[in-house]
Amino acid sequence: MHSVDANGAHIPSIGLGTWTLRGDQCADLVQAAIETGYRHIDTAAMYKNEDDVGRGIARAGVPRDELFVTTKVWPTDLAAADFRRSAEQSLDRLGLEQVDLLLIHWPNPAIRLSETIGALEAALKDGLTRNIGVSNFPTALLADAMSLAGHSLSANQVEYHPKLDQSKVLAACRAAGMAMVSYCPLGRGLDILHEPAVAEAAAKHGRTPGQIVLRWHVQQPGVIAIPRTTRRERLAENLDVFGFELTEAEMHAISALQAANNRICDFEFSPVWDG
Ligand SMILES: NC(=O)c1ccc[n+]([C@@H]2O[C@H](COP(=O)([O-])OP(=O)(O)OC[C@H]3O[C@@H](n4cnc5c(N)ncnc54)[C@H](OP(=O)(O)O)[C@@H]3O)[C@@H](O)[C@H]2O)c1
Repeated sequence: MHSVDANGAHIPSIGLGTWTLRGDQCADLVQAAIETGYRHIDTAAMYKNEDDVGRGIARAGVPRDELFVTTKVWPTDLAAADFRRSAEQSLDRLGLEQVDLLLIHWPNPAIRLSETIGALEAALKDGLTRNIGVSNFPTALLADAMSLAGHSLSANQVEYHPKLDQSKVLAACRAAGMAMVSYCPLGRGLDILHEPAVAEAAAKHGRTPGQIVLRWHVQQPGVIAIPRTTRRERLAENLDVFGFELTEAEMHAISALQAANNRICDFEFSPVWDG
């Protein structure tokens, strides 16, 4: 499995996103994904599926050290005691002694970042997680987090797809030795898969549009993608993106779609994004 080295973490380049997956469907998909070869699963306390993810992991039965499991702490739980409780509850639900990556799900300006970073580092030191990071941190906040945590941060998970420019965040992650994990890598409801730049590359390489977009992600140094699917048959498709390479011209043509600047996950509590 291809992976990105990020301040000590080795993060598989493709992971399974699990937002919206619940119950047996979630457990079955996680199990099937691992059996298909996925070694990276993304969940969060907020997804209310950690017990299902844990069941899928247990059923797949691969050695624990072969799997990379990420979970996240919701922004209302960023005070130190809440953070600790949330992380411990996540481990209980997942049925794991530690996760591989624990993230601050979104920043929360009402709680001092220094307190939250302290709680994140305590979770690392006490073995609740093997690596730590953040999510939805634009460059200014990432710089604040870096000044508090230094090179102990391994990843910033942010929205990224061909219709959203994240060049500033990506440059900041690379400069810090961190991975940038792309969420909504397929652009969820956007029409990315029908764009001529994607469709033409798909026809030329004999690949699906989804594979072209995922290849575009992982061909960028330091970028990891965590596509979600509810369909078993797509698990193998979304993982099989390492046997071909997009040309520089194809990469550029797909990146040019970023001019659209369509952000899918934007809420009243979002931080000020990089322009
Ligand atoms: N940190 C955060 O704040 C945050 C926010 C959002 C998401 N995330 C994480 O990122 C993961 C991925 O993002 P997402 O689920 O929002 O969006 P996404 O992965 O970009 O898109 C998922 C959609 O794409 C479809 N799809 C999957 N594979 C496909 C393929 N090969 N061809 C065509 N369509 C395909 C799926 O439909 P089917 O089910 O029909 O295949 C589903 O509707 C989440 O599950 C979650 O783990 C994190």
